[in-house]
Parts: sequence; structure tokens; C-alpha cells
Amino acid sequence: MGAGTEPAEAQCDSLQGRIYLDYNATTPLAPEVAQAVWDAMCQAWGNPSSSHPAGSKAKELIGSARESLAKMLGGRPEDIVFTSGGTEANNMVIHTACRHFHNSQRGMGDSRGIPHIVTSSVEHDSIRLPLEQLGREGLAEVTFVPVSPRSGQAEVDDVLAAIQPNTCLVSLMLANNETGVIMPVAELSQRICALNRRRTAEALPRILVHTDAAQMIGKGRVDVQELGVDYLTIVGHKFHGPRIGALYIRSPGTTTPLHPMLFGGGQERSFRPGTENTPMIAGLGQAAELVNKNWEAYEAHMRDVRDYLEATLEASFGKQRICFNSHFKGSKRLCNTCNFSILGSGLQGRRVLAHCKVLLASVGAACHSEKGDRPSPVLLSCGIPPEVAQNALRLSVGRGTTRADVDRAVQDLVQAVQELERDQAP
Ligand SMILES: Cc1ncc(COP(=O)(O)O)c(C=O)c1O
Repeated sequence: MGAGTEPAEAQCDSLQGRIYLDYNATTPLAPEVAQAVWDAMCQAWGNPSSSHPAGSKAKELIGSARESLAKMLGGRPEDIVFTSGGTEANNMVIHTACRHFHNSQRGMGDSRGIPHIVTSSVEHDSIRLPLEQLGREGLAEVTFVPVSPRSGQAEVDDVLAAIQPNTCLVSLMLANNETGVIMPVAELSQRICALNRRRTAEALPRILVHTDAAQMIGKGRVDVQELGVDYLTIVGHKFHGPRIGALYIRSPGTTTPLHPMLFGGGQERSFRPGTENTPMIAGLGQAAELVNKNWEAYEAHMRDVRDYLEATLEASFGKQRICFNSHFKGSKRLCNTCNFSILGSGLQGRRVLAHCKVLLASVGAACHSEKGDRPSPVLLSCGIPPEVAQNALRLSVGRGTTRADVDRAVQDLVQAVQELERDQAP
């Protein structure tokens, strides 16, 4: 690709006519993002820490990407720290909370032992697994609050009931990647803020509040002031950006603690050192700009197409055969996610997808795709019966998905089910 070539034009149609409905797993780069990455690679290759013009150009691009991210979240540029992705951002919050707990115990006669962290039973593995590891090593106590089968949400009262004197972090995702259910993060932050005032008086450690917003950005409003959180995780490849991420921290190092996991050359104010990945950061900034300009239009479009998908599924299979696994009365859900089961024996989600010729989708989180036919633990914890959960399919539509795509995808599903039933017939 020569300088000035449109990277978007060079993108081949790798889908070869298939219909991709797996936008919660990942999204392709927006053409504007690919262009920004390419431009930065060609024109801002200098080391951002160098004081000559090649360095300054790269530094400038990083600064403007930081501004775009801050604007997207209603925060300040100095509250953004770039990371390799969501996994790192989530691990950094957990690491920080443990350090914060131990710092808060310094000089206290009666130590409260190890930190306690509260989270939900449906978090992404990049929260669940580091917490389980800390628990196994005896370095932290963890409470996984089950989601309510009535709402699919971790209820605020249940989360608050799990809090102990040694609690130092509550982490609750903003929207679940499998069901799309939106969690009551703003209410939780408010209640914890009030609780923290009482805890200060009792010399108990402040409870930090984190939300993993990986699935919500670009699909709905995300405003850190409304959410009232101390930390928020950003994952570029979920909103047509590159495979890097960022962490929002409310005034890192002053209002809110932030402890680095890496030590090195001082970049990102030493919170996350290492020579900055300028092209990817520039791309992330461009992806944020697209969200800033268009998120309402994206949301309205995806909601329309998703609702059409659900209506088409019911019309094609019959209402009695389709069970929607994320329709919880009173709970809001992501505009793009449809988690459903086609009822009947031998129609496990994985088998149905394997018989599809056009549709590309998943049965749940992409990082669990190796785990065989076991029903999703997320659906089970939402109270979906195992025989329904094992037939689950997660279809997640994107900015460019059309009603015609939906028609083709559902037709494909109908044929796949007919084939499976024919094969099973005695
Ligand atoms: C809710 C949620 N959090 C965090 C992540 C982790 O992102 P990454 O694998 O890019 O680090 C994902 C990605 O699947 C996710 O869906």
C-alpha cells in the first residue's frame, strides 16, 4: 500500500458473502480508523518522547486521541491511560484496588487482613479469572454476586449486602456481552459514594467503583459523570477501533489511586510505561470521534435491525419455538444483542451454527468457544434452564447490518434446523 492509498479500498471482502452477526466478539476497523492508523504509521513514526519534530508530531496525535476518548466519556484527557486492551485495563484496576487496600491499612494497629472485592457472576473472564487467581493464592477474598433471574442484573441491594469492612473494590460491567443486559451502575455508584462517607468516619478503606464498558461504547450513552464511577474500561475493537484499549480513572494518582503493573520509561505518566503505540492510539481516537458524532444514529439503527431480527425469528420459527434469553421485564439491554434458543432436541447452538452456510455468529463469549456443548454459565446464572441454555445462539448486529442481511441469516437458520431435524428423523 503506497502512501496516500485508501486503506479501506485495500480491505478485501474476507467474509465472501457470508453474514457476520458477531459484533460483540469483535468489529472490523471503520475505514476512517484504518486511514488514521495508516497515516500515523507513515507520518507519525517518531518516538513520542523525542523532542524533535518527528517526536512532537507523534505526541500531538496521542494528545488529540486522548481528547477524543475523554470527550466520548464526558471525562478529562488527563483521566485516560492507554493500555494494550480491556484485559490489561481490568487487571490494572484489580491490582490497584489490592494495593489501595494495603496502603489504607498502613499504620493501623488492627490490620483487616486481605482485601475483599465484590463483582457479579456474569463478568468477562478478564475480571473473573484474575479474581479467582487472587482468591486461590489467598491474596484477596472475592464475592461473586449472582445476577437475579428476574432482571438478569446484579441487583444493587445484593451487591451492597456483600460489602464487608475489608471491601476495597466493586466491579460491575456496564452491559453483559452475552445477554446484553445493562447493569445498574449509576445507582450502585451513588449508594457506594454515600457508604464511603460513613466508612471514612469509621476509618474503613474507601470502596473504589469500576465498570467494564467494553460492550456499551458505541451502542449507547456512556458518561462517567452520570455513572459516577472511579474507573471505566474501554476496548477499541468492540467499536470499530484497533485492538488496544484504555482505562478512564477519575483524576489518577490524586482523587483516585492508580498503581502501575509495569515499570519502564515513564510514558503515560508512569502509570503504564512503554513507548506508545502511536498508530493504534491514533486509530482509537478516530474510533472515538466516530462515536462522538454518530452514536445516537448507530444506536437507533442497530435497535431497529435487532428488533426486526427478533420479529423475523418469531415469524419464521413460530412464537412457541423461540425463547429469548435476555428479555427481562424492566431491564434495559444493549441495542444490538439478541440471545435466543430454538427449542427442540438436537438443536444445540453449536450444532445449528455448524449447519449454517451463510451466518457467522456465536453461542456466547468468543473466548469460551472451545468449551464444547456445555451451556453458558452466564445464561445459567440468569436462571435460564440448562436444556434451553444449551440451544442458545448469540446474534449481535452491527452498524452496517441491514434488514436484508437479517432475512438471509434467518433463512439460513431455518434451513440449518430443517437439515438437523431431517438427519434426526427415525
Ligand atoms: C465485557 C468485556 N470485557 C473485556 C473484554 C476484553 O477485551 P480484550 O480481550 O480485547 O482484552 C471483552 C472482550 O471480549 C469483553 O466483552
